Amino acid sequence: DLLAQIKKLEEIFSVDKAKLKEITAHFVKELEKGNVEGGSIPMNPTWVMGYPDGNETGTYLALDMGGTNLRVCEVILSETRGEYDIIQSKYRMPEDLKTGESDDMWEYIADCIQQFIEYHHEVEDLEKIDKIPIGFTFSFPATQDYIDHGILQRWTKGFDIKGVEGKDVVPLFEAALAKRKLPVKLSALINDTTGTLIASSYTDPTMKIGCIFGTGTNAAYMENCGSVPKIAEHNLPADMPIAINCEYGAFDNEHKVLPRTQYDVIVDDDSPRPGQQAFEKMIAGLYLGELFRLVLVDIHDNKNCSFFAGQDISKLRKAYTLDASFLSDIETDPFENLQETGDMLKQELGITATKPELELCRRLAELIGTRSARLSACGPAAICTKKDIKTCHVGADGSVFNKYPHFKARGAVALREILDWTEPKDPISIVGAEDGSGVGAALIAALTIKRIKAGN
Ligand code: BG6
Ligand code: GLC
Repeated sequence: DLLAQIKKLEEIFSVDKAKLKEITAHFVKELEKGNVEGGSIPMNPTWVMGYPDGNETGTYLALDMGGTNLRVCEVILSETRGEYDIIQSKYRMPEDLKTGESDDMWEYIADCIQQFIEYHHEVEDLEKIDKIPIGFTFSFPATQDYIDHGILQRWTKGFDIKGVEGKDVVPLFEAALAKRKLPVKLSALINDTTGTLIASSYTDPTMKIGCIFGTGTNAAYMENCGSVPKIAEHNLPADMPIAINCEYGAFDNEHKVLPRTQYDVIVDDDSPRPGQQAFEKMIAGLYLGELFRLVLVDIHDNKNCSFFAGQDISKLRKAYTLDASFLSDIETDPFENLQETGDMLKQELGITATKPELELCRRLAELIGTRSARLSACGPAAICTKKDIKTCHVGADGSVFNKYPHFKARGAVALREILDWTEPKDPISIVGAEDGSGVGAALIAALTIKRIKAGN
C-alpha cells in the first residue's frame, strides 16, 4: 500500500508543463498589477537608479541580514571594473532573536558590526577615521520613499519581532550604532535581490535579474520609470532605469493558480503570517523540510496504511524539526539500499525504517525538491516575458540554489518547458552570483554617494 501512497504523492506534488505555463502567464499579470498599485506582489521601487558603470571606487561596509546568517563585509572597490577586495565575517542569526524583541535584534546586529570593526581596525584609530558608508541589506519587504529609508511591510521567513512592522527600520538600526559610537554611516538600505542584481551586473553586464533561492525566494530587475505608474508623481524621465524588488514570494496569495496541497495549507496556517507568501511557502528552503515532515506524519497517522508502524514518532511530530539539508542528504544518498537515509532517520528521529519506507522518503524528497525547482523557474520566466527579454543571464544566490542537489538542472528544464525552447543552448540561463549582496550593498552605497554629489 506504500506504492499507492507514492502514486498519490506523485499526483499532488507534480507540476506539468501546462501548469507551469498557466502559472507563469498569471505571474506576468500580477507583476504588472504590482507596478500600478494593488495585487499581492508588492513590486517595491528601490531607488537604485541604474547599474554601476565601473567607476565606483572606495571602501564600504556592508551588513547582510539574510535568512540564516548575518554577514558583515568590508568591500574595497578597485579602479578596475568588476574588481574588488572583500573581507567578511559571518555570524549565525540566533533562532530566538527571530521572534524576540526589536531592541535585542538591533543590539545584536550593532554588536556584530562593532566586533568586526574592532577586529579589523586598530581601536586607537577608530576615533580618527571618517565615517565609513555602510550598505544595509535588509532582506524583507520594505516601502522606501528614498534609499536610506524603509518601512517594514511585514516580516517574512518566519521572523516575527514585535513592534517593527509599519516602522522605518533605519532609525532603529542607527540608534543601535550611535549607542556604540561606531564610525559608520548608513548610505543605503537594500534588498538581497537588488544587491545580487547589482553585484552580478558589475562582473557580467548580461545579468538582467537578481534572484534568491534560499530561506526565502524573490527577485529584482531593472524597470523603466515610465512603466511604473505608481511612481509617476516623482516626474522621473520615462526611460530612467529603476530597480524593482518584486517581493514575489507573495505571488498568488489569492490561491488562484498554484497547485497547493493539503500540506501547503497547514504550513501556511501554522506560520506567523497565514495568508502571506503563498509562492514562497511552496518552494523556499525554510519550508521544504516542514512539508516533508507533514507528509510523513500524515501517512503514519493514516489508519489504512502501515508506515513507521510501532515506532515512536514523537520527534517527527515537532514542527520544523527537519530542514532542507535533510532532504538534500536523502536525495544524495548513494546507496541502493538507502543506508544513509536509514541512518539519518535513526539518528535524528529515532525511527527504524524498512526498505519500502525509505523508498517512500526518497521519492518524497525528490518530489518536493523538484516541485520547488520547477515552480521557482516561473519567477524569472515571468519577468523575462513581461520585459520581453529574449536572452540574458539571471544571477542567483541562496542556500537552495547553491546546495540543493539538482535544483539548477531541474529549474533549467522547467524554464525550457515554459519558454518553449528547442535550441541546443538556453538563451536565458540562471547562474550563480558571486559574493552576493555584500558587494551589491557596497556598490549601491557608492552609487548613492555619487548621485548625491551630482545633486540628483
Ligand atoms: C547570501 C546573500 O549569499 O544569500 C544574502 O549574500 C542572501 O544577501 C542569502 O540573503 C540568501 O540565502 P539564504 O539561504 O541564507 O536565505
Ligand atoms: C523573503 C523576503 C525578501 C527576500 C527573500 C529572499 O521573500 O521577503 O525580501 O528577498 O526572502 O531572501
